[in-house]
Amino acid sequence: MKIPDKLLETMNAQVTAEHQAALIYTQLAYSLDGLSFPGMSGWMYAQAEEERKHAKMIADHILARGGDVELGTIEIPAMAVKSPLDAFNYSLEHEQKVSEMIRNLARVADEVGDLDSRSLVNWFLSEQIEEEDNVSEIIEQIKLVGEDGSGLLRIDSDLGARNTQAEQTR
Ligand code: FEO
Repeated sequence: MKIPDKLLETMNAQVTAEHQAALIYTQLAYSLDGLSFPGMSGWMYAQAEEERKHAKMIADHILARGGDVELGTIEIPAMAVKSPLDAFNYSLEHEQKVSEMIRNLARVADEVGDLDSRSLVNWFLSEQIEEEDNVSEIIEQIKLVGEDGSGLLRIDSDLGARNTQAEQTR
């Protein structure tokens, strides 16, 4: 079924938002690299890759149903990152915004009675719970070690193990 206009517009906004998220994570990767936390920086790069995959999943859905994908203007907010905690707080703040956008997408899909997008939208609803949970857990760990350098370096090393493939795209 052709995607109803209102839903198509909301989906396109989500494709744009996922690319914006990728850029935000890329910026956070640069900032953490600048603070000498290569593992955390790598985690952010991997996250940026994941956001591009999210954008592609929605774009592919639009295209499969004969719709046009149109990216909107992308701006990223200024982020003052002076510590790993700052970086992950920005990440959580952004994920919470994305979660709200996905809930809105679900509401619009319901409103226009679009069943064909349901499995895609449900996947994203679950994914956002996981995304927020992952970042919240890292924030808790960082708070736990506080100013302890060796603790921060251990977290850096753990997060660095996440995905070396993403790092290779730098
Ligand atoms: Fe595409 Fe981090 O949510």
